[in-house]
Amino acid sequence: MASAPKVKLNNGLEMPAFGLGTLMCKSNEGVEAVKYAIDKGYRHFDTAYAYGNENDVGTAIKEKISEGVVKREDIFVTTKLWCTYHEPSRVEDACRKSLENLGLDYIDLYLIHFPIGFVYVDDKTLIPYREGTSSILTNDVDYLDTWKAMESLVKKGLVRSVGLSNFNAEQIERVLKNCEIKPVTNQVECSIELNQKKLIEFCRQRDIVITSYCPLGRPNPSERKPSFLFENPTKAIAEKHKKTPAQIALRYVFQLGTVPIPKSVTKSRIDENIDIFDFELSSDEMKVLDKLHTGNRAGTFVKIVDSDHPYFPFKAEF
Ligand SMILES: NC(=O)c1ccc[n+]([C@@H]2O[C@H](COP(=O)([O-])OP(=O)(O)OC[C@H]3O[C@@H](n4cnc5c(N)ncnc54)[C@H](OP(=O)(O)O)[C@@H]3O)[C@@H](O)[C@H]2O)c1
Repeated sequence: MASAPKVKLNNGLEMPAFGLGTLMCKSNEGVEAVKYAIDKGYRHFDTAYAYGNENDVGTAIKEKISEGVVKREDIFVTTKLWCTYHEPSRVEDACRKSLENLGLDYIDLYLIHFPIGFVYVDDKTLIPYREGTSSILTNDVDYLDTWKAMESLVKKGLVRSVGLSNFNAEQIERVLKNCEIKPVTNQVECSIELNQKKLIEFCRQRDIVITSYCPLGRPNPSERKPSFLFENPTKAIAEKHKKTPAQIALRYVFQLGTVPIPKSVTKSRIDENIDIFDFELSSDEMKVLDKLHTGNRAGTFVKIVDSDHPYFPFKAEF
């Protein structure tokens, strides 16, 4: 099995160009998945404070370090500042909590999870609702102020790189015009159905890597969704390359120039997903797959956050 290449970040550091997502890994499932993935050559792991599993990811990494399978410097861990910690005075504490959960001395990459802040109630309340409603209590903390506090984490050596997640082009530009330390990545949903071509090009010109979440479109096999995993043309292209549709979907976002982070806790799929570095999609095949872009989002932010908030990122074209 060919291993994942690395991508050079704008601060000179490197990030493995393929990772394991861990959203919705139940306890122990996550520990086992990360340990198995390390054995199988994964070196990049994506978690978040809000996933409640930083400790599982950290436990697995530390076990593999103590077994002598990897060294800390071989592993790249991303975690994210949750929306209730956007006030600059809360950022360092939040980062230190993530470090404590992970049991690590530093975080490789720390992202602002989403551009909109939520009202802080306590550490357990991730989503504060307006009483008796399903509307989230957001605040108006400017993400530029949050970014300044993120920069200070790099200066203090708590994190090696900082980045964004779910930011649109205008928001990224605003950060770039006002920052001391550039974001190395913007982690966004990107798949065959939401190919993010304009945002990828915008970020490429500014030396920012796109990391692709939901690269498989969060499959729902009983509904045979997303269709690109179950139907032609993906199926036929997969047969031609003796690969699976999931591998074609992951190779597609990789060839768009992004870093896919598919989640799986299933051993055979952990094997399958990283096995995409021994073949190439032709430019004709890429063009055929480009046509499957619908703009549909599988991620949940778009469904839960008030789209009238001034920092809501998904109204802009990209
Ligand atoms: N920054 C953000 O706002 C944000 C938002 C969403 C996600 N993320 C990150 O991105 C990662 C990936 O996104 P995601 O988990 O939402 O979606 P995804 O990776 O597109 O889909 C994950 C689902 O696909 C299944 N699966 C994995 N490999 C498969 C294969 N080869 N064939 C068929 N099914 C397969 C998994 O099942 P099993 O586990 O049962 O194998 C799981 O149910 C997350 O885990 C998280 O780390 C970030």
